[in-house]
Amino acid sequence: MPEERFEELKKTCLSCTACPLSQTRTNVVFGEGNPDADLMFVGEAPGEQEDLSGKPFVGRSGQLLDRYLEYVGIRREDVFIANIIKCRPPANRDPKPSEEELCMPYLREQVRLIRPKIIVCLGRIAAMKLIREDYRITEEHGQWVRKGNFLMTAVFHPAAILRDPRKKELMLDDMISISKKLTEE
Ligand code: URA
Repeated sequence: MPEERFEELKKTCLSCTACPLSQTRTNVVFGEGNPDADLMFVGEAPGEQEDLSGKPFVGRSGQLLDRYLEYVGIRREDVFIANIIKCRPPANRDPKPSEEELCMPYLREQVRLIRPKIIVCLGRIAAMKLIREDYRITEEHGQWVRKGNFLMTAVFHPAAILRDPRKKELMLDDMISISKKLTEE
């Protein structure tokens, strides 16, 4: 990993004013974790707690993600966690396509520099952006696809599990599959 380029990218991202979200954010949420990670998680966009702290997945969704990681023996500090969108959309509205387009180059560059073996999309929005535009999370979560140099899958967004606890078991199966793949790759 060219550390300098990663730090440079982070600096550029933290001062980004490319879209209107830059005017309402408290902090840019660049992402965090091991820049040499084999496993990368990509969510949708920061929520309130993430905006306040500048860190990804630290609110209720993040705490649930942490529990799943712990359960399958993956240390949060060993992975890299990022989002499609780096700044919180006001009142957590859906990101606009124009905002996604302006922000995606940051994620693409993160992926290029980190070069993870496995990319896991957290939720439908990330899966539609990174795997396939018509990705159906309910039918396809947990399935593996190879895309270029990466092995990819998507799991339910932790917020979706908080809304519908019946998804817990499915999430657990998917997370077990991810930790197995990580040891195989
Ligand atoms: N939801 C996301 O998609 N990303 C975060 O960082 C937090 C909540």
